[in-house]
Amino acid sequence: MSHPQPGQVAQATYGYIVSFHDLHPTPAAFREEVIAGLRRPHKAIPAKFFYDRRGSALFDEICQLDEYYLTRIETTLLEQHAPDIAALFGDEVLLIEYGSGSGRKTRLLLECLPTLAAYVPVDISKEHLLAAATEIAQAYPHLRVTPVCADYTREMDFPDFNEFHYRRRAVFFPGSSIGNFTPEKAEMFLRQAGEVAGRQGLLLIGIDLKKDPVVIDAAYNDSRGVTAEFNRNLLRRINTELGADFDLRLFEHRAFYDPIHGRVEMHLVSVQPQTVHIGDETFTFAAGETIHTENSYKYELDVFQAMAARAGWTTRAVWQDEQHYFAVCLFTKP
Ligand code: AVJ
Repeated sequence: MSHPQPGQVAQATYGYIVSFHDLHPTPAAFREEVIAGLRRPHKAIPAKFFYDRRGSALFDEICQLDEYYLTRIETTLLEQHAPDIAALFGDEVLLIEYGSGSGRKTRLLLECLPTLAAYVPVDISKEHLLAAATEIAQAYPHLRVTPVCADYTREMDFPDFNEFHYRRRAVFFPGSSIGNFTPEKAEMFLRQAGEVAGRQGLLLIGIDLKKDPVVIDAAYNDSRGVTAEFNRNLLRRINTELGADFDLRLFEHRAFYDPIHGRVEMHLVSVQPQTVHIGDETFTFAAGETIHTENSYKYELDVFQAMAARAGWTTRAVWQDEQHYFAVCLFTKP
């Protein structure tokens, strides 16, 4: 796979990570965002903070659950259509992936992209990112792998793309992670992704589609309680990293689909009145009061395409499962 084709220049051999860009949020930034969120009239903590080492491992476990159809279907779509995707990408693409996680889906693409110019995975979870990037670098020794640990929901710096020799850039944003943004923020994100992709740029993105709420509810309330553990792990993380005293037994997992907003809301529910401390800050909870920990928006395909169009993207191809539960879309820039 990684051997040069006839007529192609031999590529350098790496087999390891050449450079690593560490823009991981500092403990001070984490503390500030958590405290600001808990000071709001409706307490909320950004979903990006789920992904510490344990949170990332729990998320990988969620991806294997029968109820969590998103990963299963998207993986199948990528398996089936990776050759078509690769043909539309063309040669010598620079691949930038947001929220690369374990990198399992990326590998399906890499198998079909032997001339890939470089791979730039971006993730907020440092250990997870480095482990996945190292594995990919070892499996594809001719591929230059440059991981970036960063919070991509904020403005962030990329490595200097001029360091790489490539024809066009492709942004890969799998998993329907775009669903964590409100539609307004999602549109802004798509516009920024257009700047990252640049001229003739590509965007390959996974979208979870609207469907029977029973199916959606089950995906976020799995029978083994892995999602509940993933949700509660946020409090465990705040306890460990910020010296807080959340009693994990006094917060329950709640997730439900809200058809009005077209989104899953995930909360942690205080089961009784209580007081919690983070350092010298105090927070009180009424019985039944919640911390809103995640939104996961579901889209109608044409609504999403219209949003992408407003953000400057043209639809090139869409792949869906038979039931239309999930879509993988390829967009291009003029
Ligand atoms: C990674 C944001 C796509 O919203 O479905 C899984 C995270 N939360 N189970 C999602 C998640 C609860 C997931 N995303």
